[in-house]
Amino acid sequence: MPTPYFEVAHLTKHFSTDESTVAAIQDVSFSLQKGQFLSILGPSGCGKSTLFNLIAGLMQPDCGDIRLQGESMLLRPGLTGYMLQKDLLLPWRTIADNIVLPKALHGTRRQAALKSAVSDIAACGLRDLLNRRPDECSGGQRQRAALVRTLQTGKPLLLLDEPFGALDAITRLHLQALLTEIATKKRLTILFVTHDVDEALLLSDAILVMGTAPGRILRQYTLEEPRPRTMRVLSQPEFIRVKGEILTLLDKEVTADA
Ligand SMILES: Nc1ncnc2c1ncn2[C@@H]1O[C@H](COP(=O)(O)OP(=O)(O)OP(=O)(O)O)[C@@H](O)[C@H]1O
Ligand SMILES: [Mg+2]
Repeated sequence: MPTPYFEVAHLTKHFSTDESTVAAIQDVSFSLQKGQFLSILGPSGCGKSTLFNLIAGLMQPDCGDIRLQGESMLLRPGLTGYMLQKDLLLPWRTIADNIVLPKALHGTRRQAALKSAVSDIAACGLRDLLNRRPDECSGGQRQRAALVRTLQTGKPLLLLDEPFGALDAITRLHLQALLTEIATKKRLTILFVTHDVDEALLLSDAILVMGTAPGRILRQYTLEEPRPRTMRVLSQPEFIRVKGEILTLLDKEVTADA
């Protein structure tokens, strides 16, 4: 077996509070090849953001390993671009100054950073918004700016935590297509948290369905249908079957939790 490009092996993380200890992630394992798109579905509290925080190196696991090209990432954080659940654009900076931030933090001058972002800015339709502040933009515009900012990290592995969660259906479709196009062009490997089963089916090479208490993988799916896909795939029998199974799994989790 060739070494996978990215691998999570037996990852476990507990949190202790005054009242109790929570197994936020327990024995989570999966792997991806370069350029693959993985979606993670699961009820609130099943450990999706914790998994991302561990992969991003923002916290250490109790046990297990995370490997990129066979090398542990635990001692080498900073190998991922991370778009958090909230867009976290800095409100006092313009869209342009938010976008250049990842490169500016590494010493690149503003003009040079902006120049290297030009194609992403154009692809995401932000050319006319560069001088606005985030509070002068719509939700969809802010999400596009956050996506472009994440792309400027230049990292080959992206963690996107519900990036389109708060958007209307049309804006969401537009951004899904955009993300697929950019990811394919740059051969990015993407881990994507969503609560939308159709979105996962449309975008992914693989889907993890997680359960809660303890946060663990219930099922892993591989979708062979080539990407990019159109909404039409959702009416194919195989997609309908997988969607039904996923919804049943999620329903059981939510019911068990109630
Ligand atoms: N810093 C922390 N201290 C204590 N418990 C935590 C901490 N962070 C997360 N948890 C707990 O760990 C579990 C997993 O949380 P996490 O935020 O990873 O869930 P999630 O799947 O991202 O949920 P959501 O879909 O609501 O974003 C939850 O029970 C949560 O309360
Ligand atoms: Mg979360």
